[in-house]
Formats: sequence, structure tokens, C-alpha cells
Amino acid sequence: MNQNELISNTILFVRQQLENAEGGHDWFHIERVYKNALLIAKEETCNLQIVQLSALLHDIADSKFHNGDETLGPKIARKFLESQNVSEQDINHVINIIENISFKGGNFEKNFNSIELDIVQDADRLDAIGAIGIARTFNYGGFKNRALYDPKIAPKLDMSAEEYKNSQAPTINHFYEKLLLLKDKMNTTTAKKIASQRHHFMENFLAQFYAEWEGEK
Ligand code: ADP
Ligand code: NI
Repeated sequence: MNQNELISNTILFVRQQLENAEGGHDWFHIERVYKNALLIAKEETCNLQIVQLSALLHDIADSKFHNGDETLGPKIARKFLESQNVSEQDINHVINIIENISFKGGNFEKNFNSIELDIVQDADRLDAIGAIGIARTFNYGGFKNRALYDPKIAPKLDMSAEEYKNSQAPTINHFYEKLLLLKDKMNTTTAKKIASQRHHFMENFLAQFYAEWEGEK
């Protein structure tokens, strides 16, 4: 099978897997991450096929939507890649990326390293910030029936991901828990540049949000 065929088969497979996904973790998220990954990869020396496959397969069964099961996504990805006769070595690399890409409250020790992981992780993180990041965050909050903001529940920086998940913390808190931390976690120069601009946009958004919350004077 040639490389183009493998990528188009993967696209078809992922679209199908994500047919009923929540708006922030749907096929369009994957498409944006894929495009970001290609953009970043242009500036790096890397195995493009690994970048493409990992970007496409990184969220096919997010544990948030599958009772916390973190093994399901990697299992489905492996089965698919085997069906496409991808080499064992490449499958292992893609699975390692999928298992190590996530933010997990920032307390997560990466136990695998590769430039391809760095690229796809940056691409995924870029989609968590800026205008799209804001939209995805409020969409997820709505999906969880959370309040937008509650001045009585001040955003807490020191809340663990687990505590947060089980709380009814308003969606604005997620900015402090994750979104505003991402710009300093980018791996590549390309992503750092884009992240800095998107970070600035989020800071402006928050300032405007709080001002409007208080009402016009
Ligand atoms: P990662 O793949 O880095 O672990 P997630 O899948 O947890 O990231 O989050 C991706 C996006 O989903 C977040 O950037 C955010 O927009 C939304 N999201 C996830 N968890 C929450 C949450 N607790 N509150 C609001 N939005 C969330
Ligand atoms: Ni993702």
C-alpha cells in the first residue's frame, strides 16, 4: 500500500470512529491538529508518516468519554494499523505517541520521547488555546452542564485534574488549570510563536469577560 492510500484509509476510519463525538473532540478537532502538525513538521527533521498517523489517531477513544479507560484508544489504533500492514516498529511508535500526548493537568511524566511526539503534542495543544481553545472549553463545560463562571468559586491554580473533574467548577476555571499554562509547555519553535499570539488573545478575552460580567458603568 502506498503512503497516500494509508493516510486516506486512516482519515476515513477516524471520521467514522468520531461520528457522534462531542464538539471539541470531533473530526474537526482532528483535522485542525493534523493541519497544525503538518505545519510544524515542515520546520523539523522528522518521519512525516508517523506524524500524520499519530495526529489522526490521537483521540479516537478519549478516556473522558469511555469511563476513564485509557487503554481503549491505543488498542483500537493498534488493531487498525495492523489491518493496514503497518510495520510493528511504526505501530509501536504511534502508540507511544498516543499514550504520551495528553496534558493530564501538567503533572504527567512523559515516559517516551521523539520529535514526532513533540510535534503532534504541540499541534494538539495549539488547538486547546486561542479562539478555538475558548470555544472548545465552553462547549465541554456545556456538555458537562457547568456554569460559565461563578465569582464565589474563584479559579484555583492548585486544583488537581482529578479534583477538578469531580467538581462542578465553572468553565472559566479551566483556563487557569490548563489553557493559560500551555504556551510555556510547547516543544517546537513554530508552536511557541503561534502559542504566544493565541495566549495573548485569551488574556484579552478574560479581561473583557470579567469587565462585561461587572456590567457597563
Ligand atoms: P489533553 O488531550 O491535552 O489531555 P483534553 O482532551 O483533556 O486534553 O482536553 C481538550 C480540550 O477539551 C481542552 O483544551 C478543553 O477545551 C476541553 N476540556 C477538557 N477538560 C475540560 C474541563 N474540565 N473543562 C472545560 N473544558 C475541558
Ligand atoms: Ni486532541
